[in-house]
Amino acid sequence: MSSVGIDQISFYTSNYFLDLRTLAQIQLTDPDKYYQGIGQEKMSMAAHDEDIVTMAASAAYPLVQNGESEQISTLLFATETAIDQSKAAGVYVHRLLGLNNNCRVVELKQACYSATAALQMACALVARQPEKKVLVIASDIARYDLNTPGEATQGCGAVAMMISAQPRILSIAPEVGNYTEDVMDFWRPNYRKTALVDGKYSTKIYLKALKQAWENFRENSSLTFNDFTHFCYHLPFSRMAQKAHKHLARVNKSELDASDLEQQIADTLLYNRIIGNSYTASMYIGLASLLENCQQNLTGKHIGFFSYGSGCVAEFFSGTVVEGYLDVLFKEQHHAMLDKRQEVTYEEYLELYRAPDPTDGESHSIAADTQGRFRLAAISHHKREYVAI
Ligand code: HMG
Repeated sequence: MSSVGIDQISFYTSNYFLDLRTLAQIQLTDPDKYYQGIGQEKMSMAAHDEDIVTMAASAAYPLVQNGESEQISTLLFATETAIDQSKAAGVYVHRLLGLNNNCRVVELKQACYSATAALQMACALVARQPEKKVLVIASDIARYDLNTPGEATQGCGAVAMMISAQPRILSIAPEVGNYTEDVMDFWRPNYRKTALVDGKYSTKIYLKALKQAWENFRENSSLTFNDFTHFCYHLPFSRMAQKAHKHLARVNKSELDASDLEQQIADTLLYNRIIGNSYTASMYIGLASLLENCQQNLTGKHIGFFSYGSGCVAEFFSGTVVEGYLDVLFKEQHHAMLDKRQEVTYEEYLELYRAPDPTDGESHSIAADTQGRFRLAAISHHKREYVAI
């Protein structure tokens, strides 16, 4: 069977960020707790007229500019920041991107893991119908209560990946390792805007799920720890990946020293440090970070992926980088987007954090704010009105 995997990858994050030094100053905390302790420097804050739909459409826009949208059979939208209990957010994106009316659209949920479920389902659909493509989008806004330990691990972002046969970036292997366990480490009941989390417990469950998913992967795949040159982990904050990678190395009795292990993940962390947690999108923004910033040519290298979604479902899987991948990346566009972001004050952060979410059914227009290509222009009679800029 021909290879199936990621043919293109593009991401988007908001134009606004709060520097965690500012948060530390307000909280009378040592900024190194954030810069070193959790390994985060900045967190993206969505503009008033941005949500998972506008971020998703902005992320996916570059992937549908070459007239190939007719070939897209399916749009899979992964999120845990749903805006509607019935309508899939991807249906709005379908219109904003001008996708064909024969393309099916569905939304998937399982905390941060669902983008990986979407990716695997996309690969299965393409394997069945290799002349078609599947657009996978993951888009989220991570929100915790103010003045809680989770506050410094907020963020927002969206990633879009075109899945095809003979992919130009990453061939995904069918062998995976899974782990599922019913736990309450992080969750968000329907009536809450912010997540509830048992922070320390969540980091322990993450590591347990990593070991279990890896062991299941080893039962199903001939690849060993030493076959991988790089690893992409789910990134709630970058120190989590560093801890996870050391844990996996210990489980495998690896003889690599600390600096070799750091080299295997360092480039995956660069974007996350300045964007923050983007839940479903975060591991795949980590992949873009690796591909776009690694000085070494990654052609032919095996990359290990650990996807984790609280609750919890986890998966270890692998991909092999395809020759010529550098030619299809959106590196310059991503760097330009990140470079021109605007820092907000603590007061402006609070204003963005407390953005009203009208529930009265009246007409509310929303002032233009985002630097993205799409915006939420109004909420009128309980209907969200999106426009291209
Ligand atoms: P905390 O309890 O405030 O932090 O929150 P801490 O006191 O444990 O400090 C964190 C680290 O900073 C520690 O290092 C400190 O020693 C160090 P560690 O012991 O971990 O190696 N530190 C310093 N370092 C340098 N200079 C200093 C300094 N002070 C302290 N001055 C916690 C940490 C992660 C619990 C919190 O941020 C939180 O609750 N975050 C949200 C939950 C989370 O991200 N969990 C991750 C696993 S679950 C997951 O990934 C899924 C998720 O993405 C959701 C989904 O699936 O949908 C969250």
